[in-house]
Amino acid sequence: LVVPACDFTVFGGTGDLALRKLLPGLYQRERQRNLHPDTRIIGVSRHDLDDAGYRDLVTQALFEHVPDDQLEAGAVHRLVSRLHHLRLDATDPEGWDGLHALLKDTPGSATEDTIRVYYLAVGSGVFGPICDRLDDLGLVTPQCRVVLEKPIGSDLDSSRVVNDAVGRVFEESQVYRIDHYLGKESVQNLLVTRFANTFLEPVWNSRWVDHVQITVSETLGVAGRGGYYDQAGALRDMVQNHLLQMLCLVAMEPPTYVGGDPVRDEKLKVLRALKPLTGADVDRLTVRGQYTTYGEEIGGPSTTETYVALRAEVQNWRWAGVPFYLRTGKRLARKESTIEVVFKEPPHAMFPHSEGVTTPNRLTIRMQPDEGMQLHLTAKHPGPGGIRLHPASLDLSYDDAFDERSPDAYERLLLDVMRGIPTLFMRRDEVEAAWEWVEPILDQWEQAGVEPVRYHPGTNGPAAAATLLAREGRTWQE
Ligand code: BG6
Repeated sequence: LVVPACDFTVFGGTGDLALRKLLPGLYQRERQRNLHPDTRIIGVSRHDLDDAGYRDLVTQALFEHVPDDQLEAGAVHRLVSRLHHLRLDATDPEGWDGLHALLKDTPGSATEDTIRVYYLAVGSGVFGPICDRLDDLGLVTPQCRVVLEKPIGSDLDSSRVVNDAVGRVFEESQVYRIDHYLGKESVQNLLVTRFANTFLEPVWNSRWVDHVQITVSETLGVAGRGGYYDQAGALRDMVQNHLLQMLCLVAMEPPTYVGGDPVRDEKLKVLRALKPLTGADVDRLTVRGQYTTYGEEIGGPSTTETYVALRAEVQNWRWAGVPFYLRTGKRLARKESTIEVVFKEPPHAMFPHSEGVTTPNRLTIRMQPDEGMQLHLTAKHPGPGGIRLHPASLDLSYDDAFDERSPDAYERLLLDVMRGIPTLFMRRDEVEAAWEWVEPILDQWEQAGVEPVRYHPGTNGPAAAATLLAREGRTWQE
């Protein structure tokens, strides 16, 4: 696979995301020879770097972020040779000539047909000004695409302002709103598991499913990103996008085919079917936490949440009454992202005199670590005596099942942008529907002065999250 040639410009080219994820992702695709020989990568930042300085910086980042056994001198050299750097302040109209010259006036590089990708790995407050400058300079053609990093705005209104500003320059079909969770192999596999098999769909509903749990637990804190994170908090940073997107993929109806609009139409219907959490429901059904060393880490006291747990419901025919419990937090005991679909108990206890216990069937989709799936069953313990029930599982580990490295989410998504495939990107209406659901929770926390409860780093988060499920006779799967 060789994707079409493009000029790939990264605003925020020296930032954490670019150095930790985007350039290592492009490197992996370079290694696989997916990038066209004419593709150029242009890093834009406020740093005073020439091309050579940028190439050194990126080389260092590759050595830091790519595992040793995947570093190949030839591929590093090929990738680094594509790099250019331009010093630019997105908010300052001066200095854009360099970008114009590079994109338009370099011999052999620019035609109206050149695919230009503008990757905005910067705060969404400058998306509008950047798009305007690009437009003024005549650098936006129908062949251009713009990639927007989340979060887009910090609430519904501000996300509309950002989307309007981008929309004045780019058509919706040119806008790629990235949610890297959608690029994870196991998240994409969820679609395949649900819709390329027959056995799950008949039981994938409120008749058979007791509840769903979606967990994204991280061990890292916010070091180095405190400025952004303290303004955002876990609800905006993780729930509004990654967790709700996963909820959509679990809950959505089968699209007519897997393509941009059919998939996004179905996800949108789920977002619109979410039962609003407002007023007293917010107090009852959400938990807001902060790890005890957070203030120290960001250099002062703060009331921003680093942990959220909540109970959502999808009000439609398929899911009526089924709780979707979501939780995410930083500085927890484990780095782990999972979706658990927990089924109901069998309708009749067939083994009254048996030893052991039946545990409800459960499908675990593991996004990390060790991507894969497990179907938890009850089996008979071998032996000639009476029947002894025993929990057992069917286990699919990607590493064992496929003799290939599982690519990082960004690798897939970056290629999709170059190929013009929008299926795994969020449409404007989805982002806004997600904000519409999240915003009343933020409002209620603010109005009621809900302070985050403290939890110790390295634990499973606030006890209140366990209580949220315990009240309904359930527990989190640890
Ligand atoms: C990002 C958030 O979108 O996702 C980060 O801004 C978070 O705060 C990260 O750490 C988690 O991604 P992953 O792929 O490491 O689970």
